[in-house]
Amino acid sequence: MAKIQEAWSSRLGVILAVAGSAVGLGNFLRFPGQAAQYGGGAFMIAYFVSLLIVGIPICWTEWTLGRYGGRFGFHSTSGIFHALLRKPWGKYLGVIGFIVPVMIYMYYVYIEAWCLGYAVNALSGRLNEPGVNYSEFFGRFTGASGDGVALHFGLGDVGIFLVIVYLLNFFFIYRGITKGIETVCKYAMPALIAIALIILVRVLTLGTPDATKPDQNVMAGLGFMWNPGDIATGLKNPQLWLAAAGQIFFSLSVGFGVIITYASYLRKKDDVVLSGLTASATNEFCEVGLGGLITVPAAFMFLGAAGIVGQGTFGLGFNVLPEVFARMPAGQMFASIFFLLLFLAAITSSLSMLQPGIAFLEEGLGIERKASVALLGLVTAIGTMFVWYFSADLKALDTIDFWVGTVMLFVQATILIIIFGWVVGVEKGWKIAHEGAEMRIPDIFKVIIKYITPAFLVAIFVMFTLKNVFGWNFSLGAAEFNPTGYVQDLVGEKPNHVARLSVGLIVIMTIFSLLLVNIAGKVWAKRDIIEKENH
Ligand code: ALA
Repeated sequence: MAKIQEAWSSRLGVILAVAGSAVGLGNFLRFPGQAAQYGGGAFMIAYFVSLLIVGIPICWTEWTLGRYGGRFGFHSTSGIFHALLRKPWGKYLGVIGFIVPVMIYMYYVYIEAWCLGYAVNALSGRLNEPGVNYSEFFGRFTGASGDGVALHFGLGDVGIFLVIVYLLNFFFIYRGITKGIETVCKYAMPALIAIALIILVRVLTLGTPDATKPDQNVMAGLGFMWNPGDIATGLKNPQLWLAAAGQIFFSLSVGFGVIITYASYLRKKDDVVLSGLTASATNEFCEVGLGGLITVPAAFMFLGAAGIVGQGTFGLGFNVLPEVFARMPAGQMFASIFFLLLFLAAITSSLSMLQPGIAFLEEGLGIERKASVALLGLVTAIGTMFVWYFSADLKALDTIDFWVGTVMLFVQATILIIIFGWVVGVEKGWKIAHEGAEMRIPDIFKVIIKYITPAFLVAIFVMFTLKNVFGWNFSLGAAEFNPTGYVQDLVGEKPNHVARLSVGLIVIMTIFSLLLVNIAGKVWAKRDIIEKENH
């Protein structure tokens, strides 16, 4: 019996869903942290270059390939590559499109639970009580202070919130594309933008909050984040380019396997060009226009540069900001709505990470929604429990984020652009992209997609590997074996067992996924034969 194809109910619905996937913790926590760390101006140049030659082109290719694959009834990256490439190995190229969203979900949902937990704790006043030690609270709530310390279920603990966010995510994903994802994004997106604007106005009207520290004022806060610094030196640092390109991937949800799956639910003549651009623009507005003006300037005004430096993404959001809100007039209210904003941003993203997995299990194993939701729930729960237990220094979370959320993401994006530019071919790809399109992609992007984007990605990947794996220290201008901590954790003199276990989990997940793709291949081969006979 033919399965009824799901589809988006409206154009606004799909744009909000893709924007919802893109706008997430990356916009309000990761971006400001990175921009401040790399000195504002220089980072922003690399960031916008990456947006133009990597983010937007890959976004268009994902939208185009996704909608095209949907015509053949496929919604997962593996299925779409199978339909597109018609080669036995094609489906395996799409395996990362299953691993990446599923594994990112495993830890992303854990952070989502912190956001909800912090919102509730702020609202109840617990976060604003005099004498709260924010680092201690953070350490226990997130488990950063030791393995197993977050395994509690009181109102001041993460456990209960983790259960709630899990149930919410799987409830909405079970309801499907329109009733689930579209409905959540339709309410959550406007709500989060409204909350962000309220907080932005509050931050920009703080003036000089502490008269005894006149240097810590709103202009200095914005300057700390945005003053260009030494642009020429900054741009010579390859690590800055890696960070900027990585931020673009993470933030736009490019290379996640999400956009390709979402676009596969479009109809044949639905526009992809303008929709893709609109969703990306919405993300950039939320990232640069909102995220970039709130977190770091607010922290600077109350705590000065010393209070921010070395905090890292999570420290900034969950350690520094609660203290900042506590010192602000009406801080309790602002803290509650800020963490609610983070929660809304996170849930629209985490939902999007589940859909590629659901689509793959349904079409690959030929199972119904209930079974695929149950199976994906089980697989992701194992990973989340792993991250929840091995929480000391957030090691498991951080390790998976690096190898999956950065390295694999990069590989997947490169595969996508090469398939579009070289296998499908730019001319044919252009034709497909422009079916039903409401604007034309400037022709210069043909050259960008075919040559510049792949060359840029390969160049960054080579630098990335030289620096992070082989420890080539560019700033010294000479090779010197000093690999990144992520590599040293695995093969250095003092290996870290949690990091090794985390990579073990990634390997197991990869093998499991390859087996699933193999099974799916058999299901699809049968389907191809039946379709041939019917024609
Ligand atoms: N794109 C999502 C974010 O920025 C994953 O958080």
